[in-house]
Amino acid sequence: PRKIIIDTDPGQDDAVAILLALASPELEVLGLTCVAGNVALPLTARNARVVCELAGRPDLPVFAGCAAPLRRDLVTAEYVHGNSGLDGIVLPEPAMALQPVHAVEFLIESLRGQPAGTVTLCPLGPLTNIATAMTRAPDIVPRIAEIVLMGGGCFEGGNVTPAAEFNIYVDPEAADIVFKSGVPLVMMPLDVTHKALTTRARVEAFRALGTQAGHAVASWTDFFERFDMAKYGSDGAPLHDPCVIAYLLRPDLFSGRHVNVEIETLSALTRGMTVIDWWRVTDRPANAMVIGDVDADAFFALLTQRIGRL
Ligand code: BDR
Ligand code: CA
Repeated sequence: PRKIIIDTDPGQDDAVAILLALASPELEVLGLTCVAGNVALPLTARNARVVCELAGRPDLPVFAGCAAPLRRDLVTAEYVHGNSGLDGIVLPEPAMALQPVHAVEFLIESLRGQPAGTVTLCPLGPLTNIATAMTRAPDIVPRIAEIVLMGGGCFEGGNVTPAAEFNIYVDPEAADIVFKSGVPLVMMPLDVTHKALTTRARVEAFRALGTQAGHAVASWTDFFERFDMAKYGSDGAPLHDPCVIAYLLRPDLFSGRHVNVEIETLSALTRGMTVIDWWRVTDRPANAMVIGDVDADAFFALLTQRIGRL
C-alpha cells in the first residue's frame, strides 16, 4: 500500500476524508498530524482522535502540530463547522492519547526514516505544519513522493473572501513555501470540490449503510450543509477534503492541468489567492497538477462503498 500522512484540521469534511483513508487497503496511513484551522489546535487534535476511534483505529498515531499560522493571527471557521469543529453528532470523548511528539517532528522523522520517494503528504487544512517541516529540515523536501492537497480556487474564486479559499487564506506564507518547494503537487481547488455535492440522495445512501460510521457521515454532512446550501443555493454542500483521498484511490475519476500556481501574500484584498496560469499565458514553470473536474457520481459511489466497510 501507498504510505501517506494526513495533515488535517477536522472539520466534518476532514473527518470523512480520514474515514475514507482508513477504510482503504490501498493506503497505509502512517499518522495524522493536526493543525489549527477550522477550529483551534486542541479541538482539531481531539477531533482527529474521535474519528480514529469511530473507525476502530485507536492505535493510529495522532500528533498535535502548529497552533497558529507562520506570520498571521489564526482565523477559524466555527460558523461552518460548529463550536467543536465536528458538530452534527455527539460522539464519545476519545480515550486514546495524543502522541508526545510535535507533528512537525513526526513529519521530519517519518520522511527521513522511510525510503526516499515513498511517503505522500495529504494536507487538508492550512499548510503551516508542512511548511514548518520544510523550513526546519530542507533535506526532507526531495524525499516527499508527492503532496496532494485541498486548497485554492481557479475560476471558482474564494469561499472566505472573494479571492481566497480558506486553507490558503489562513496561512498564505506557508502555502507559498509549499508551492515553491519543487515537490510534485496535486491541488484540489474549489472548482472541483464544488462539484462533489452532498445531495439528499447521496446523504441518504450514507445513512442507509446502517452503520455507526455511515450515520456519522450523514449527520456531519447534514450539519455543515445548512451553511453551504444557503450560501450557494445548491442541493447539498461541497465535500472538499475527501477529494484528496479519492484521488489517491481513483485518479481516473479526476481531470486537470499541470500549470503554474503562485500564492498572493502581499495584498490585503487578495490575501491567499491562488493565481493559477490555467491558460498558460506566462512562461512560469508548471508546479502543480490543478484538478478541475470529477466524476461526482463515481466519487460518491466509491466513498459510500468504503465507508460501508468500517
Ligand atoms: C476547506 O476549508 C475547511 O473549512 C474544509 O475542511 C476544507 O479543508 C475548504 O475551503
Ligand atoms: Ca480541512
